[in-house]
Parts: sequence; C-alpha cells; structure tokens
Amino acid sequence: MVNGGDPGKAYGYTEEIAATLITSQTLQAKIAELAVAVAADHHNPKPPLLICVLKGAVMFVTDFAMALPIPSELEFMAVSSYGSATSSSGVVRILKDLDGDITGRRVVIVEDIIDSGLTLSWLLKNLQTRGPASIEVVALLRKPDAVKVDVDVRYVGFDIPNEFVVGYGLDYAERYRDMPFVGLLDPKMYL
Ligand code: XMP
Ligand code: MG
Repeated sequence: MVNGGDPGKAYGYTEEIAATLITSQTLQAKIAELAVAVAADHHNPKPPLLICVLKGAVMFVTDFAMALPIPSELEFMAVSSYGSATSSSGVVRILKDLDGDITGRRVVIVEDIIDSGLTLSWLLKNLQTRGPASIEVVALLRKPDAVKVDVDVRYVGFDIPNEFVVGYGLDYAERYRDMPFVGLLDPKMYL
C-alpha cells in the first residue's frame, strides 16, 4: 500500500485525495502484463509506433515503453475535448499533432482513461484517415459505466467505478499528475 493508507500526505495533497484506488505496485504489475501481451501479439519486424495521448498518458507510456520487451518508437499527440472539467463532449481539437507520417505503421494508441469513449472514438477516426497498417489501443483505465460509444480497445489495464480519479498522469485542473498511484479525488474538490 502506497503511503500506508494516507495517500495524499506524502505529496502535499492531504485532505484532497479521498482514497487510493490503485497502488503504484499494482499499476506497475499490470503494466508489465500489458506490455507482454502487446509484444506477444506483435509479429511485425518493424517496431510499433506508440502514440501517447498527452498529457494524461505520459506516466503510463514511459513505464509501458520501458516494460515492452520489443523495441518501439514514440510519438505524442495532444487533444482537447470540449466539455466541463470532469466530463467530455466528443468535440475534439488537436492541440499538438504527430511529428511524423504514420502511413503503413502499426500504431498503438496509449491512453490514460476511457470514460465516455468519445475522445478515443474521434481519435481513431482521425488516425485511420492517415493510412496506418493497423491501429490498436491500450488503455490503462476504463469506466465501463460511463461508456457512451463502443470503441474497440484490445488492451485494458483496469475497469474502475464511474468516479473521478487522479494521479499517475491524470489531473484535476492540472494538479495530481505527479502522484505515483491512482486515487479518488475528494468530491469536495470539484463540487
Ligand atoms: P472521454 O469521456 O472522451 O474522456 O472518454 C477521455 C478523457 O477525459 C479525461 N478523463 C479523466 N481525467 N480523471 C481524470 O483526471 C478522470 O476520472 C477522467 N475521466 C476522463 C481524460 O483526459 C481522458 O483522456
Ligand atoms: Mg485532464
């Protein structure tokens, strides 16, 4: 258990984090499993292109790339979904596009969390138009009770309750990304 059951304290977030949802050790064990599964399905000699969706997936993609037992290449994309602070609308804007061409590449989208699925569904359609050989998705977290559109996600780390979570890259108003575990934000922080 990270921080002995008092997750916020060591990070200066005392009183803001209601509980630890996924400890750092549990995250790392699952990431190792996901990496082995992705590598086992990847029979192409050309390294897969990992596309990290900024900023939330940044912690995940670095741990995932290092755990992957095959070489990979890394690209970053930043998108913003219009909506309220804690829910998305599906109207997406590209803040930072890929640096390179993905034509003919085996793309693995690395996502932090699938909530409604609207952002990912838009992203898949967008990337599909660029002629990749294939696109797969690996998502660390998914909220099954929040899904509004069905997206084909081959690899999922954890299914979690429909509550707002922070840490390990996930933020609320840009805070909490630096926590090494996933925690439940105390609702008093956003109500
Ligand atoms: P949708 O609803 O489009 O949302 O699947 C995906 C994006 O919304 C953000 N998101 C969260 N961020 N805690 C967060 O810090 C959450 O519980 C949460 N749920 C959704 C996230 O950026 C994700 O990529
Ligand atoms: Mg966010």
